[in-house]
Amino acid sequence: MNTLKNKVVVITGAGNGIGRSLAILLANNGAKLALNSRTLKNLEETASLLNIKKDNLFTRAFDISDKGAVFEFAKDVNDHFGQVDVVINNAGVAIAGLTFEELETEDFEWIFSINFMGVIYTSKAFLPFLRKNKEDTALVNISSVFGLVPMVLKTPYCATKYAITGFTDSLRMELENTAIHVMGVYPGGVKTGVTLNAFKAEKEPEYAKEFNKNLKMEPDTAAQIIIDGILAKEEKIIIGNDAKKAIFAYKYLTFAFKSVARKTMQKFKKI
Ligand SMILES: NC(=O)c1ccc[n+]([C@@H]2O[C@H](COP(=O)([O-])OP(=O)(O)OC[C@H]3O[C@@H](n4cnc5c(N)ncnc54)[C@H](OP(=O)(O)O)[C@@H]3O)[C@@H](O)[C@H]2O)c1
Repeated sequence: MNTLKNKVVVITGAGNGIGRSLAILLANNGAKLALNSRTLKNLEETASLLNIKKDNLFTRAFDISDKGAVFEFAKDVNDHFGQVDVVINNAGVAIAGLTFEELETEDFEWIFSINFMGVIYTSKAFLPFLRKNKEDTALVNISSVFGLVPMVLKTPYCATKYAITGFTDSLRMELENTAIHVMGVYPGGVKTGVTLNAFKAEKEPEYAKEFNKNLKMEPDTAAQIIIDGILAKEEKIIIGNDAKKAIFAYKYLTFAFKSVARKTMQKFKKI
């Protein structure tokens, strides 16, 4: 894809953080946007920040774990614009700071319904429209560095993000002979509210505060790297030196990697 000008780009979770930055930068690049987010007020705030013509913007607030709402959104976006070029599965939530034994099975069901099933519903709903398109198109799934490396006190989040990695890599192979480019995005720490707003973060506030210090990259910088990766048709977009170092350490410096995990358990759980 040489340009995103006049392309129809769908972004889920555009009411905040990386999704909002993607919307602002893509609007500045002349893209037409279909935006979703959970909270109407946040989505409206994003819309108010965009440099875009009214007809080139379609917004709808709904929960990405609502299958019917996702399929209706896809149909309505295609009806509105007549085509879909890029779908960015960005909406996501976190649970962090608690051990597997401290968590409930319902916590896993909840996070999977958003982080993973949200990606599945959106991919399934939009793929027919991407296929119909005669030009190059892209399906972009935002995983995390924790979709490539494990970490303690993040079992539900890591599980959803690894699931996205497996789905993305497998689907890419199935669609190899099509014009649909399936991309995985693996950010390290990006300065958004994802950790402080994490579900049950109040149960381990010190952990949330400490981990939040690792979120250093500006969301605009992360969004620009994603846009450059889409244009370059990269299969795996790894964002930030922290992510690159963690991936390297997990593969080649296993002892050091495990020692960080061990120290985290000692610090927060006295284990
Ligand atoms: N920040 C990081 O360090 C980091 C690192 C790796 C990966 N990521 C991933 O990057 C993506 C964006 O995260 P972020 O850091 O930008 O977080 P964020 O600032 O918290 O933004 C998340 C967005 O997702 C939306 N969302 C959450 N649950 C939703 C649902 N059920 N239905 C629809 N929308 C929903 C939120 O909507 P409302 O605010 O409107 O309710 C918000 O707009 C996530 O998938 C996250 O896992 C982030």
